[in-house]
Amino acid sequence: MEYQRYERSAAAAQAVSRCYDTPPLAYVHSYGCQQNVNDGERLKGVLADIGYGLCDAPEQADLILFNTCAVREHAEQRVFGNVGALKGLKEKKPGLLIGLCGCMANQKQIVEKVRKSYPYVDFVFGVDGIDTLPDLLARRLQKKGRILMEPAQRPVIVEGLPIRRESEFRAWLPIMYGCDNFCTYCIVPYVRGREKSRRPADILEEFRGLVAAGYKEITLLGQNVNSYGKGLDGADRMDFADLLNLLCVVPGDYHIRFMTSHPKDASRKLIDTIAAQPHLCKHLHLPVQCGSDRLLEQMNRHYTVERYLDLIEYARAKVPGITFSSDIIVGFPGETEEDFEGTLDLVRKVGYMQLFTFIYSRREGTPAASYPDPTPRSEKTARMARLLKTQDEIAMALVKAQVGQTVRVLVEGYGRAEGALSGRLDNNLTVEFAGDPALLGSYAMVRLTGARATVLLGESAD
Ligand code: SAH
Ligand code: SF4
Ligand code: F3S
Repeated sequence: MEYQRYERSAAAAQAVSRCYDTPPLAYVHSYGCQQNVNDGERLKGVLADIGYGLCDAPEQADLILFNTCAVREHAEQRVFGNVGALKGLKEKKPGLLIGLCGCMANQKQIVEKVRKSYPYVDFVFGVDGIDTLPDLLARRLQKKGRILMEPAQRPVIVEGLPIRRESEFRAWLPIMYGCDNFCTYCIVPYVRGREKSRRPADILEEFRGLVAAGYKEITLLGQNVNSYGKGLDGADRMDFADLLNLLCVVPGDYHIRFMTSHPKDASRKLIDTIAAQPHLCKHLHLPVQCGSDRLLEQMNRHYTVERYLDLIEYARAKVPGITFSSDIIVGFPGETEEDFEGTLDLVRKVGYMQLFTFIYSRREGTPAASYPDPTPRSEKTARMARLLKTQDEIAMALVKAQVGQTVRVLVEGYGRAEGALSGRLDNNLTVEFAGDPALLGSYAMVRLTGARATVLLGESAD
C-alpha cells in the first residue's frame, strides 16, 4: 500500500481559467452510501481547488458530475435515467461537460454502455480517481476527445484532498476504503476494491481539525470498520477499538458514530470501548442481513444467528440503554417461508430501533447472481410488507418507552410544525421541539413528552 499526498494541479487550474471568462460552475450529485457522499464532498473540494464555483442546479452548471452507486439495480437505473435527462441540456449548451464517476464507473459493462449509448457523456472515472479529476478535466477542456477510463484499482491512499463538506456540524470521516468480505450478493468489493486502511496519524489529524472547526458529530466510515488496521505496520499497528481510544483523547464537545460494523468482526473489546468512552454514541449499527443460518452461510457472512444474538446480549449487559439498528435483505435467492420467519423472529428478539430493509437485487458478477431464485417477486414484496409491519410495532413501542426522559440532542434542522426544531438523540432517534433556531448545530437538553409514529416530541429543558 502506498500513501500519497494530493497536490494542486496548476496546469489544470490554468486550463480552466483559459477556457472560461468567469469562473465556471460545477454541479456534483452523489448517490448511495455515506462513503460516496464523502467522496462527493472531496470531488467538490478538488473542483473548487482548480477554479470551479459550485452550484445546486444542473441547469446553471458548466460541469455536471454524477458520483454513482451500484449496490442495487434500482440505483443504477436512477443514474441512467438522470443521465438520459441531460441530453436536451447538452444540446442547448454544447460547452456543458458531463462526467460519471463512483461505483458504477468501476464496472466494465457500464463503461461500455456509456461508450455506446450515451455519446454526450464526456468522461468516466472510477472511485479511486478523485485526485486525477483535475488533469482529466484539463485534457477534456483541450478538446482531446471523450475520456472513458477503464475500471482499475489503485493500491494507493491519497491524503490531503481538499473538501467542501455539506454540513458545518456533522462530518463523515473515512478510516478505510474497499471491502474484502465478498458477501455473495454484494457488488461493493468489486467496485470499491480491496480493503485499505488509512494511517492512524492521518485520521487523527483530520479528526482534530474537525473538532477544532466545531464539528459535533463525526461519523467514522468503512464497509467493515471492525477490520480496521489490516496491513498497517510497526507503530501504526492497531485495531478499530484502539483507533477509537486514540480519537477519544482529543478534548472537545463532540460525539462519534461509526459504520458499518460487520458482526463477524465486532469484538467484545469494541463493546467494552463503547461502554468506557463517553464520546461514543450508545448505539450500534450491526447489519444482520437475515435470520436464517442456512442463508447466512450462503451469503458468506461467517456468523450464525446464535453468535449474533450473543453479541447483542453482551452489548446490552455492558452498555446500559444501548440501541441497535440493522440492514436486512428480503428474498435472497432460495429464501423459504421458514428462513423468512427466522428473520422476523430475530427482529423481534433484538428489538431494533431502526431497520434498513432491501429486497434482494441481482448483481451481475456476484456469486449469488447464479443461485436459483424461484420465489416470485410478489411473494418477496409480501414478505417485505410483513417485515415492515413487525418492525413498525417494535419501533413504536421502543420510541414510546423513551417518553419522560430528558436527553441531550444535537439540533440538526427544522421540524414539521411551525417553529419546531429537529434534533437527534444519541440512539439515533429524532425529536421535534420548539426552540430558538440559533441552536442549530449545537447541543440542547430536551424533555421527551410524546411521540408521533417513530418521531419523538419534546420541549426544551435548558
Ligand atoms: N458494508 C456494509 C454495507 C454495504 S451496502 C455492510 O456490510 O453492512 C448496504 C446494504 O445494502 C447491505 O448491508 C445490504 O443489506 C444491502 N445490499 C447489498 N447488496 C445488496 C443486493 N444485491 N440486494 C439487496 N440489498 C443489498
Ligand atoms: Fe458488501 Fe459484505 Fe462488504 Fe458489506 S461487508 S460491503 S455487504 S461485501
Ligand atoms: Fe453504493 Fe458504492 Fe456505497 S455501490 S452503497 S456508493 S460503496
